[in-house]
Amino acid sequence: MIILGIETSCDDTSVAIVKNGKDILSNMVANQDEYHRKFGGVVPEIAARKHLEHILSSIEFCLSEADLELDDLAGIAVTCRPGLVGSLIVGLSAAKCLSFISGKPLVGIHHLEAHIYATALTDYPYGVPQIALVASGGHTSLILLQNEKMHLLGRTVDDAAGEAYDKVAKHLGLGYPGGPIIDKLAQKGNPDIVRFPRPMLNHSNLNFSFSGLKTAVMYFLEKNPATLPEDLAAAFQDAVIDVLVRKTIQAVKQQKISNLSVVGGVAANSALRNRFSTECANKNINLYFPPRHLCTDNAAMVAGLGYHKLKNNEISDLNLGSSADAGLPLMTL
Ligand code: KG4
Ligand code: ZN
Repeated sequence: MIILGIETSCDDTSVAIVKNGKDILSNMVANQDEYHRKFGGVVPEIAARKHLEHILSSIEFCLSEADLELDDLAGIAVTCRPGLVGSLIVGLSAAKCLSFISGKPLVGIHHLEAHIYATALTDYPYGVPQIALVASGGHTSLILLQNEKMHLLGRTVDDAAGEAYDKVAKHLGLGYPGGPIIDKLAQKGNPDIVRFPRPMLNHSNLNFSFSGLKTAVMYFLEKNPATLPEDLAAAFQDAVIDVLVRKTIQAVKQQKISNLSVVGGVAANSALRNRFSTECANKNINLYFPPRHLCTDNAAMVAGLGYHKLKNNEISDLNLGSSADAGLPLMTL
């Protein structure tokens, strides 16, 4: 079963073709960083316009790279929520159009469930219960995935972890997106120059908060302008990772589930991968990361998950997303 996937929830236009939920025949991402760089963050209006420019050629590219025609597909999977409304609409409209003209079923995909599926594209045994940390530019959520249903355990009450990276990098004048830049810079820095606050660590709930940490970095720099950027990057990153790791381990313990996937753009971070690997090895937790290029937004994770949804007959009609929905309707435990 071959599925074409479309992902346009934020600022990456991505189309992929995946066979049987696993074999990636084509996966292309039209990255928009250069258009958002000067603003230091994603500008929704620009993102939607760029999706519109790239979507059709991306679909054509993938079909031709996989040497397939619309008729060879079993279905079209598309991210339908959550995300930037204008961005989602572009992908949804393209997917509905393809489904209508080809007569192939349309499958609506939740963006966070797709991120979690990224580990199943390689080694996670799909369907086995797991805890997932989704840490990206738009989300920081702890999710229990059981019986193919997502249950929200905790989430950020303000900024997402990736957003904190992007905002700190913008403030330090380092560039956009901030995550990969700070990741690299921090490798040369000394994290012990200052201990930034670890927000929400003393709380028994599984929520996060990152906006205070970003402000603490800014105040520290104001008072200590001679601080080396690499030291500041390392100290900031240390605080983010400490909170993400400790809260996630707390969730694993609470739920008594020993499988953990760490996904989303921030899961590409080298120090975060190292720290999770060490902690999980010590605590006998089975840890799964997607390969780095499948951590950030991509349509392979959408098409892969679409295969299972289609097999379960979870087919959407052409009204999918017609009342544009930027929210996150996950069940809480
Ligand atoms: O998953 P993603 O592509 O988009 C959303 O769904 O939001 O994540 C993008 C985010 C950005 O905030 C970016 O700075 C962050 O992921 N990111 C990283 C790294 N690579 C990307 N954060 C920390 N370290 C990285 N290596
Ligand atoms: Zn994402």
